[in-house]
Amino acid sequence: MCGIVGAVAQRDIAEILVEGLRRLEYRGYDSAGVAIVDADCNLERVRRLGKVQELADAIETKHVHGGTGIAHTRWATHGEPSEANAHPHISGDIAVVHNGIIENYEVLREELRARGYVFESQTDTEVIAHLVEWERRTSETLLEAVQKTAKQLEGAYGTVVVDRKDPERLIVARSGSPIVIGLGVGENFLASDQLALLNVTRRFIYLEEGDVAEITRRDVNIFDLNGAKVEREVTESNAEHDAGEKGKYRHFMQKEIFEQPTALVKTIEGRVTKDSVITDSIGLHATEILNKVEHVQLIACGTSYNSAMASRYWFESIAGVSCDVEIASEFRYRKFVTRPNSLLITLSQSGETADTLAALRLAKEKGYMSAMTICNVAGSSLVRESDFAFMTRAGTEIGVASTKAFTTQLAALLMLVVALGKQKGTVDKALEAEIVGEIHKLPKQIEAALNSEKEIEVLAEDFADKHHTLFLGRGEYYPIALEAALKLKEISYIHAEAYAAGELKHGPLALIDADMPVVVVAPSNDLLEKLKSNIEEVRARGGLLYVFADEGAGFVSDETMKVITLPHVSEITAPIFYTVPMQLLAYHVALIKGTDVDQPRNLAKAVTVE
Ligand code: AGP
Ligand code: GLU
Repeated sequence: MCGIVGAVAQRDIAEILVEGLRRLEYRGYDSAGVAIVDADCNLERVRRLGKVQELADAIETKHVHGGTGIAHTRWATHGEPSEANAHPHISGDIAVVHNGIIENYEVLREELRARGYVFESQTDTEVIAHLVEWERRTSETLLEAVQKTAKQLEGAYGTVVVDRKDPERLIVARSGSPIVIGLGVGENFLASDQLALLNVTRRFIYLEEGDVAEITRRDVNIFDLNGAKVEREVTESNAEHDAGEKGKYRHFMQKEIFEQPTALVKTIEGRVTKDSVITDSIGLHATEILNKVEHVQLIACGTSYNSAMASRYWFESIAGVSCDVEIASEFRYRKFVTRPNSLLITLSQSGETADTLAALRLAKEKGYMSAMTICNVAGSSLVRESDFAFMTRAGTEIGVASTKAFTTQLAALLMLVVALGKQKGTVDKALEAEIVGEIHKLPKQIEAALNSEKEIEVLAEDFADKHHTLFLGRGEYYPIALEAALKLKEISYIHAEAYAAGELKHGPLALIDADMPVVVVAPSNDLLEKLKSNIEEVRARGGLLYVFADEGAGFVSDETMKVITLPHVSEITAPIFYTVPMQLLAYHVALIKGTDVDQPRNLAKAVTVE
């Protein structure tokens, strides 16, 4: 699900549309286009396969100008990436851009073909253009034509329509894919993400599910699902113009920790309905590829490896598909055996990590059925060289120690696991609805986890003078302990290790004394009682314990154990939830130690050498 920008103004809006698309490039896309109504009411369309800059150059060369227009960056779901499939799509005097998926497009396409429409693209979107053109013939207004069209569409979509014969307005419909209206002075705008419009306005109206809006230079009229005129709240945005600004935060890492609720909203939107994962939104041919998968091989480095490790539990326990996880620098030099129908998944924030790239290139030669990447940087090498990419959309991550990329990777992996389970028949509608329901709760849950910052800031004092720390977790919380240890190492320079708690007595217990704080990730699950035994093993040897647990776990603080109580969350999303206090602990210990939090010594944001 990609990028939409629209504008109705007195002035030329070509540059506003292009700049808006530029600000949405982080979402990942394969092509881009605009449709602008010029002073003579001609509908000028320019589309390009590839980067927004190529589109901008073409607009410049063709001298396309006008006061009303729509623009789109496409992430192909139906129809290969190509100029012919790029949006906007046109039917007669009507041009349309669309985010999302029209699930009943095949039926609509046949009906429209029977009415004489000729389709120029392979996309689902094109049915919207022809349908509006058809309904316009028997409607009083463009608004009415779009309202009639919206009633016939099934799926998740945000769509914008312009009619060259009625150039003073844009009509927009929202159902499952966000649309925001930007209010100007004598001009108005719209976009799929407010970031696209922050250079022209700070006043926004967020459309609600089912809303259809008519936007002119002077007015915005919004109608709900039933066609009743409604008023929607106008909000003033204080969002940062640019990811390159820390705003009110001391460090980019702190800002990015606190951006996680918003980042997760962007990761999730357009990929799920209220109770299901939209498999097609995972990528072109995702459905047919997932159908064939019998084994999943995850390859990554560092923090991305830790998210891969956590997801392994989900691939096997939810999707019922065997899953291996390997560090890229090991995989690429190992004489590995490729199992039949194996899907290779690389995970990477930067998409440029040399070891992960090398592993992808090698795996492609060794018979992997398909290679996808879960990545945060559009246009990166991993995205370009993989068969398809599932973008985390966390926004630019500047702090070298990865935070929002990790939690959005986990959210993306959870959606992928559900989609895989649906194809394999191991995830039924009830389980899908349960998991998607928990995914929808994630942003608010992460906000609640961030509320523990003050308590953790005090706790950090206990670690600042230590030289070692041990993190323990069981099951899918063992990788969360790994990530917690990595965070502390990276930014505070304290030696930290993570162990599967059951492994303690097989050696690490020898390390336990008053100088070795032990942090335990202990959400309530079926391994909690065993974890409590591991905790007793530490206490019996004079260890100092810091237990992160939910209110129902029954832990009580005393002189050898500090309990940090967190709200109870579902086991499904608890690994993502428990990551946040671990990030905050590492951050505040580093603050006390006065290290360079955003640029820790010896480290790089993207390790592009092996
Ligand atoms: C994480 O905090 C580090 N910056 C590092 O371990 C990083 O995760 C690793 O280098 C992989 O980077 P990638 O996700 O961009 O591939
Ligand atoms: N499903 C539409 C297409 O494949 C829109 C994809 C998008 O959201 O960018 O063209």
